Amino acid sequence: MADAQDNHGGLLFPPIERIQKEAHISSFKQYEDMYKQSIEDPESFWKEIAKQFYWKSEPTGKFFDYNFDSRKGPIFIKWMEGATTNICYNALDRNIDRGLGSKIAFHWEGNNPEDGGHITFNKLYEQVCKFSNVLKSMGLKKGDRVAIYMPMIIELVVALLACARIGVIHSIVFAGFSSESLAERILDASCRAIITSDGVWRGNKLLNLKHIVDEAIIICEKRGHKVERCIVVRHLSPSDEIITEDGDGDCTTEPPAKRPSRQLKIQWSDRDSWWHKLMELQDAVCEPEWMDAEDPLFMLYTSGSTGKPKGVLHTVAGYMLYSATTFKYVFDYQPDDIYWCTADVGWITGHTYVCYGPLNNGATGIIFEGVPFYPDAGRFWQIVDKYKVTKFYTAPTAIRALMKFGDDFVTRHKRTSLKILGTVGEPINPEAWLWYYNVVGNKRCAVVDTFWQTETGGHVITPLPGATVTKPGSATFPFFGIVPALLDEEGKEITEAGKEGYLVFKQPWPGIMRTVFGNHERFETTYFKKFHGYYCTGDGAKKDADGYIWVTGRIDDMVNVSGHLLSTAEIESALVEHAAVSEAAVVSHPHKIKGECTYCFVTLKEGFSFSKDLSVELKNKVREKIGPFAQPDFVQEAPGLPKTRSGKIMRRILRKIAVGDKEVGDISTLADETVIDKLFQLRPADA
Ligand code: WTA
Repeated sequence: MADAQDNHGGLLFPPIERIQKEAHISSFKQYEDMYKQSIEDPESFWKEIAKQFYWKSEPTGKFFDYNFDSRKGPIFIKWMEGATTNICYNALDRNIDRGLGSKIAFHWEGNNPEDGGHITFNKLYEQVCKFSNVLKSMGLKKGDRVAIYMPMIIELVVALLACARIGVIHSIVFAGFSSESLAERILDASCRAIITSDGVWRGNKLLNLKHIVDEAIIICEKRGHKVERCIVVRHLSPSDEIITEDGDGDCTTEPPAKRPSRQLKIQWSDRDSWWHKLMELQDAVCEPEWMDAEDPLFMLYTSGSTGKPKGVLHTVAGYMLYSATTFKYVFDYQPDDIYWCTADVGWITGHTYVCYGPLNNGATGIIFEGVPFYPDAGRFWQIVDKYKVTKFYTAPTAIRALMKFGDDFVTRHKRTSLKILGTVGEPINPEAWLWYYNVVGNKRCAVVDTFWQTETGGHVITPLPGATVTKPGSATFPFFGIVPALLDEEGKEITEAGKEGYLVFKQPWPGIMRTVFGNHERFETTYFKKFHGYYCTGDGAKKDADGYIWVTGRIDDMVNVSGHLLSTAEIESALVEHAAVSEAAVVSHPHKIKGECTYCFVTLKEGFSFSKDLSVELKNKVREKIGPFAQPDFVQEAPGLPKTRSGKIMRRILRKIAVGDKEVGDISTLADETVIDKLFQLRPADA
C-alpha cells in the first residue's frame, strides 16, 4: 500500500509498486528519455511505433510535415502522407492474424443488470464485414458521410468499424441530443444515411430514438437535404411492445427479464430498413478500402464559441497511431486486462478509448448501456466485480455524484481486480481525486487524470501509472510528442511558477485534428490565430514549482457541464427563440456535482413578466433545442444587462452576480452602472 507523502503542504503519490513492476514505462527517467526523443526526433519515434501496424504501402513523401503559423501560409498537418492502410483492418484482421480471434473484444452490459453478452474478435470481424457490405449495397462509398445516433450497444461499434472499413466518414451524434441538434449536424455534413435503433432504456426511462431521428430527417428535408436511408437496429424486446406503422415489427431478440412494459410506437417509411434483415443477405467477407494516411476517418461535432458546432475532422493513420499509443501507455495495457471506459461512444472519449485505442491493442473492453445509479449507486462496482475489471476510466462528475451516496455503495463490492483508475473531461477537484484513490482504489491503484480534447484525438497531458508521482488535481506532464507552453495575453511565454496562462501546444502530434469539416478557415481562426505558431486549447493552466501542469478550465465562452462542453452562445440563441425573451446572456456557475452549470440572464419583451413557470419553460426550451444534458440550472430576470458603451456584454460581471459576489471589480466602462444592483436583487433564492 502506498500512502501519500507530504510535499510543501500538498500531497504526492508515488507510483504503486505492483503496477510499476509490470509497467511498460516503469520509471520517470524512462518517461523523460522517451519524451525527449519524441519531441526532438518525432519522425523516428513514431516510425518505430508505426511498425506494429499493417501498412499496404509506405509513405511516399515526408514522414511528417506541418505549418502552425498562418502568417506563413495555410495551416496544415500531415503524417505519413502517401502511406496506405485501414484502421478497421488493423483493429480486426491484424489482431485475428496474430491469434486473437477467439479473444473477447467486448462484453456488453445492458441497462438492466440481467441483460448482457459478448463478442469475440472473430465474430466482430464477421459482423463488421457484413455491415460493410450492407453499406456498400446502398451505394455508400469512400468519402460519403453517415450519421450514427445509437445507444451503447455492440452494433454501434460494428457500424463505426464498418464505415472505417469502406472509407465512409462516420459522424456519431450522442443519442442524448435533440432532433434539432441532430438535424443541424446531419445538414452540416450532408450525411447520406443514418443508423439508429428503435429505442433504448436509460435507467427507468424508455427513449424513442427512432422518433427523434424521424423528426431530424423531416427538419433536414425542410432545409433541402434528403437523408436517403435509415437503418434501424431492433434493440428493444417484445415486452416493450413496439408497434411499427406498416406492421413490420417481427422480433429477433429474446424478451429480457423484468423490464417494465411500455408501448413504444415507431413510424416506418420507405427509407427505413431493419438492421437484422439487411444483415441476413450479406457476405461475411469484405475487402477493406485502402486509405491514404491523410484520408478522413471520422468527424465529431464539438461546441463552438460562436454557437455553431464544429465538425472536428480526424484522419486515418495519425489518429490510429495516437489512439493506440496513448491507450497502451496511459492505461499500461497488458494482454490479460479487462478494460472499462464508461464514456458514451457519442463523445470523443468513447471513440478513442472505448473503440479505436483498445481494439488496436487487441484489448477486451466493456460496453455499458446504462447509467451509474441504476438500479442503485453501486452499479459501477458491481460491474467491476462481475467482469474483474483491471483498468477503469470515468469522469469527475460521475465520481462526485457517487461520492454523495456514501462509501457503502463502493465498499460492499470487492474491487480487488482494479489497478488503474482514469478520469477525463474536466478538472478533478482534489477531494474527488482522493475519494477515487482511497475509497474506490483502496490505496492500491494508480489514478491517472488525463487532459485532452475532441481536437487532440487522445491524451495530451497525463500521468503514466508506473512512472509519474501524482498530485491530486494535476494532469501532471505532457504525453510523448506534446510540447506545451503557457502564454500570456500578449503571447509571451510564462515561465514563472504559479502564474496562469493560455495552454497551447508548439508542434503537432499524430492525433491532432486536421480541419473543421467544410470550413478550414474556422479551424485556423479558432485554434491558430490567437497566437501565431501555436495550437490554442482554449483552456487556462498553470505550472507549479515542480513543473506540474494544473489545467484550470476554459477561458473562452464555453461551459463544461458534467464533462460536456456547451457553448453559451448556443444556449443564448435557444433562449431568445422563446416569445417572451428579447435578450439572453449565459454564464458558467460552479456546481458541486456537475463541476459547472449554466446560469442564464434573460431580458423580457414588453408585456411579459417573469415567473416560476416561465423559468421552467425556458429551461425546457434549451432542453428541447439542444438536449436534456444542456438544461440550465438557473434562470433569472435581467431588466438590463451590464454592457460596455460599445454594447459588449461584460460576462465577468455576470459571473460575479450569479454567485452573489459583490466584489464585481472595475465597472467604469459600463454604459449603465445601475443595472448591477438590480441584478443582485433579482437573484433567485436557490442560486
Ligand atoms: C476539459 C474530452 C481538466 C477541458 C476528452 C478541455 C479537462 C475540454 C480534462 C475538452 C482534465 C478534459 N482536466 N480539464 N483532465 N479533460 N477537460 O472536447 O476544458 O469533450 O478543453 O474532450 O474538457 O472536452 P472534449
